[in-house]
This record gives sequence, structure tokens and C-alpha cells, in this order.
Amino acid sequence: MAGGETDGTAARTTATTAGGTGTATDPRDDATRAWSALRRRLSDEATAALGEDEADAFLTRVDLALVDVHGPLAELYGDRADDLFARVLRTALAAAADRPRALRRLDRRRELDPGWFQRTRLQGYVCYVDRFCGTLDRLAGQLDHLAELGTTYLHLMPLLRPREGENDGGYAVADYRAVDPRLGTMADLEAVAGALHERDMALCIDLVLNHTAREHPWARGWLAGDPAYAGFYTAFPDRTLPDAYDATIPEVFPDRAPGSFSWVPEARGGAGGWVWTTFWPYQWDLDYTNPEVTLAMLGEITWLANRGVDVFRMDAVPFMWKRMGTTCQNQPEGHTLLQLLHAVTRLAAPGVVFKAEAIVAPDDLVQYLGAHERFRPECELAYHNQLMVLLWSSLATGEVRLARQALGRMRPIPPSTSWVTYVRGHDDIGWAITDADAAAVGLDAFAHRRFLNDFYSGRFPGSFARGALFQENEVTGDARVSGSAASLCGIEDALERDDAAALEAGTRRLLLLYSVAYAFGGIPLLYMGDELALRNDTGYVADPARAPDNRWMHRPPMDWAAAARRTDPGSLEGRVFAAVRELGRVRRSLLALRGGTEPELLDAGSDAVLAWRRRHPRSGAFVGVANFSPRPQEVDADTVTGFGSFVQVHGSDGRLGVRGGRLTVPGLGFAWFAEP
Ligand code: GLC
Ligand code: GLC
Repeated sequence: MAGGETDGTAARTTATTAGGTGTATDPRDDATRAWSALRRRLSDEATAALGEDEADAFLTRVDLALVDVHGPLAELYGDRADDLFARVLRTALAAAADRPRALRRLDRRRELDPGWFQRTRLQGYVCYVDRFCGTLDRLAGQLDHLAELGTTYLHLMPLLRPREGENDGGYAVADYRAVDPRLGTMADLEAVAGALHERDMALCIDLVLNHTAREHPWARGWLAGDPAYAGFYTAFPDRTLPDAYDATIPEVFPDRAPGSFSWVPEARGGAGGWVWTTFWPYQWDLDYTNPEVTLAMLGEITWLANRGVDVFRMDAVPFMWKRMGTTCQNQPEGHTLLQLLHAVTRLAAPGVVFKAEAIVAPDDLVQYLGAHERFRPECELAYHNQLMVLLWSSLATGEVRLARQALGRMRPIPPSTSWVTYVRGHDDIGWAITDADAAAVGLDAFAHRRFLNDFYSGRFPGSFARGALFQENEVTGDARVSGSAASLCGIEDALERDDAAALEAGTRRLLLLYSVAYAFGGIPLLYMGDELALRNDTGYVADPARAPDNRWMHRPPMDWAAAARRTDPGSLEGRVFAAVRELGRVRRSLLALRGGTEPELLDAGSDAVLAWRRRHPRSGAFVGVANFSPRPQEVDADTVTGFGSFVQVHGSDGRLGVRGGRLTVPGLGFAWFAEP
């Protein structure tokens, strides 16, 4: 036993006040006190449930995480904390006892290697099961395609049983413990996890925790007045409070779901009520001010972890805690809640990590990785949506000043965390560009966002992109963009016009973006179809449940005929597939690309070239350059290659020439250098 070690890594900054006396107490003392009251009994229970050795490990984890578990409970739920502390520990213990042997072995390996998800062997692939291979039981047969690319991390898009009819691409979950019957069964999912683990691949699935479908048993129980679900959701009798909240909440889906509340006649015992629905009216926000909700969700997370999930993509986490007069995003209590879920989950399943889907402004992002005033373990991974947005912005303008500014001033991430870097995903692109960053490089943020919308929807004169506007808001003038990476890069337009030069440029753009995503640091995600430059799909328009949501245009079914051409170097697919695979191969060999450290943005003397340097304590430095202009650019070779001591390890155009201290980067080209 590591007994007595209660300080953990997260001394909490907010002191709780004891029973209204106004005396500030140290949260560590509170946690220790609560634990000493419970410890003997829980040790006995743990030994009975887990056997002596596993119980020892479990109790050691509890010892180490005391403050991370008790602190949030005290902050969120005040004097109910001690009672809840005992309950969450028992939830974790029950889950630990249910944990299959093979997963415990994985846990053990990951406790020995806590940075397992930061290693450069981690490389992601994201797909919808139905669109990739139909059903879960067919997935194991398609793993070769993924292995060929170097995939070691598979994110399967929402696959838990959704409501019938419209379901927001699976983000309206009706049962967390069942798989969508169209995709298979929970046993199939467990078999997939097993098959992935056999190949040393990790499984990521979505955990939709801000809301459930209105058809979920919790929602039905709440509606029916079942006391077990009292307070699981929020309903207001009239518009007074909803109007007051709506005044400061940005709308997610202004076109068909304006505001954040939906009238539900059956609510409030039949009197009717405005139910909190941040997203679509059939997605009801859970009320986490009620600790029963938190406990119920913990039960679902730990249960799913025991099915073999390695990474939970924590969906829409910025929205989980509401506060009047704010955007109702990124509230401090939302972070505290995530920290709690994280700490408890890892008592039961220490090999499991959380990935935050927080598509928020740059200043609000790193907190999801635990970077608060003091570090507090929260999510190990988070989507680097700033990088994604700035890649597309740079591609449209052909210059990187904004990217250098915004990325350069981001707060560093905690060393025990990592980004996931990506070019494209299943959602629209929202232009998270702040006024301050834009102003710093002489741009007007609103005008720039408008330009990007015009550009990627193809309205801007001379644009190569074939995207579409998503959720244009007539009141604010805001909009976001849908479209597949290849179509946004100009490949669709080039193919339609049968323009070889344009196709070449489009292909170079796609690979340029991926070259940054693969070398910026963190786990790169390849979005299904991008490895074959799949274009927009218009098929969704024929399906009434999907037609109104044009995000479906960039969720095409896998084109296996195109995939068959991946070995033909003369085809578009062959070229892109080989190039993407090569990015992964070279990346794996570069220790400097490990997660946990931040890149440093460099000014190499050209505003068209993104240049960044990465270091890892056990390796030499790495420098990447990416030219967003179609014209060749000269950069300062000393900045890039550290006075000639770096070796070029990869590039779009072979070895770059150096002349008179200048290095020429071809138009839309990239190169990677490493200190030997
Ligand atoms: C996330 C998903 C998005 C969904 C929303 C509501 O942001 O990525 O597709 O619409 O959550 O669940
Ligand atoms: C989530 C994302 C947001 C996206 C929306 C709908 O709220 O945070 O960026 O636009 O889902 O796709």
C-alpha cells in the first residue's frame, strides 16, 4: 500500500467552507477525513470483491486520487460530499470487480506506461461503422485497410442505440448499454475491442453526456414523475427564465432549433414546461447540479469501459454546466465535473483516457486538458480545433500570420496530456477566431470569418472550394462550413472541370494540411475517406431524417472501389493513400513528435510558410515547414535547419535545395527536418 499519501497531484485552489461557520478548510484535510472514516470498511469490501492483490492496487489508486474525487464532490455538492464520496467509490469498486481480466492486464501495462497515448505509434482513424463496413461483425475483416495506414487508434462514430428517426448522427442516445441494432450487438462491440487489442489498437467511442434522447428511460421516468429520476432534466413553467438564459447563449442550430429550450406538454406532471435542449429538441440536457445524474452517468461510463473502450470522446463537454448571464459554456463547475468523472473512472479502469470535444475559443481550450491555475487532471486528450481552423484559414488566404499569432500565444498543455490533431471530422467547421488574434495581424475577425464562409462555400470569386454553409444565422451573420476535405481543397472542382493542374494543386493542398496534422504533436486523426480524397456525398438529401442537416455531405459511405485503387500510383487514390501512409511511417520514427510538449511557432522569413519546432527531452529537435502559397517561398535556412545540422527526413518534393542561406519550399509543399 502507498498508504498515507494523500496529496495527489492536484492541490485544489478553492477551499471549502465548513458547515457555514466560515472557517476555510483545506480540501485535502476534508478528503483525508472522509477517507479515514470509510477506509477500513472499503478495504474489506475491496478484498472480498477483488482479492488481496487487486484490492491493494485499487486502494492505492484511491489513496492517490483522494483529493481528485472528494474535492470536486465538495465543490459541486457541498455537504453531501462525504455521502457521495462513499457512493462513487463503491461504484468504482463494483466496476473494478466486473472488469474482465484482459482489460486488467491492459490497465497494468498502461499504469506502467502512463504516457502510452502520447507515443508516436498512436495514429487515429475515424469512421462510421455502417458507412465503413456495414455492421460491427464485419469490422474485424476490414482491419487490414486500417493497419496498412498505420492506424493504432480507431474512433467509431456514435454506435450506441439512438432514438428512432432523426438522431443527430447518433448523438441522441436512447440506451448507453445497447448498440444500435442496425450495427450489431454489445457482444459484437466487445469482439471488436478484443480484435483491436490483439493488434495493439485502441478503441475510442463517443460518450454523449450533456444530453440523452428524450426517449431514454431516464427521460421517460422523469416525465412520468418517477422519483428515481426527479431532477434529471430541467423544465421551466414559462418563458421568464428561458428568455433570460437565451439572451446570452449562442445558438447551436439557429435554423431549425432556435434557442436552448423546447416546449414539452407532458413535462411538469402534464402542466407543460420548457425543457433545456441546447441542441435539437429531442436531445434533453441532463442536470448535473443533481448528483444522482452524475452517479448515473458514472455507472454508464464504467460499464462501457468494461466492454473494452480505451478512449471516451466526451461529447459537447463545454455545455454541461449552466450559469445565468453567460454563454453557458466552459463554466468552472463543468470542468470540476469532468475532473470527477475522470478520477472515478480511472479508479476502476486506469487504462482508460478521456478526450474532450470542446470546440471553443483558444483561451478556453487547454483547460479541458487540466491546465487551470493549478493543474487538475481532467481529460488526457482534446481536439486541437484551433489548429484545424487555422489550417483552413491559412489555405484560403495563402498566408500564415494569423495562424502564427493564434497558435503562438496558446497556453502550453500539461506534460501528461496530448492534443488530437485533425484536418476534418464529421462536424461543420466553426471559425473560432478571436477578435484579438485577428486584430493583432490587422484583420477584422467578423469580416475574416465571413470571407472564410464565402471562400469555402465556393461563393468567393476564384475559390477552389466546394463546401456549403451550415447554420447561417441571419441575425448575427454567422455561419459555419460543411464539406469533405477533398472538396474543400479543390479536388472535386478540379475533377469536374477535368483540369489536371487544378487536381494537382488540390491534392497538394490536402496533403499539406495532413502534413501539419501529422507533425504538429499529438495523435493525428485521419477522417474516413480522406486517405482516398473522397468528395462530398449528396446521397443524404434523399433521406428525410438527414436531408435538413448538410453535415451529411461530408459523411460519405466508404468507397471500396476507390480503395482498391490505393495501390495504383497513377490514380488520385493511390497517390493520396501512399502519401498519407508515408506521413505516418516517418512520424512514428520521430521521438520529437511525441505528445506532451508544445511546438514553438517560428518566423522563418516568409508569411506564407508555417514553421514550427518541436523538442523532446530524449531526442534532437524537429522542424516542420508548410507553404500555404501556390508559389515557391524562400525561408531562412538557419531558422529552419539550425545552421545546417538538421537532416531533411520527409517532404512533398524530395530534398529541398539551400542556396545562400535560403531554403526554397515549393508552392503548397512541405518538409520535415530533424536533428540527427
Ligand atoms: C457534438 C457532436 C455533434 C453533435 C453535438 C450534439 O458536438 O460532434 O455532431 O451535433 O455534439 O450532441
Ligand atoms: C457542437 C460543436 C460545434 C458544432 C455543433 C454542431 O456543439 O461544439 O462546434 O458546430 O456541435 O455540429
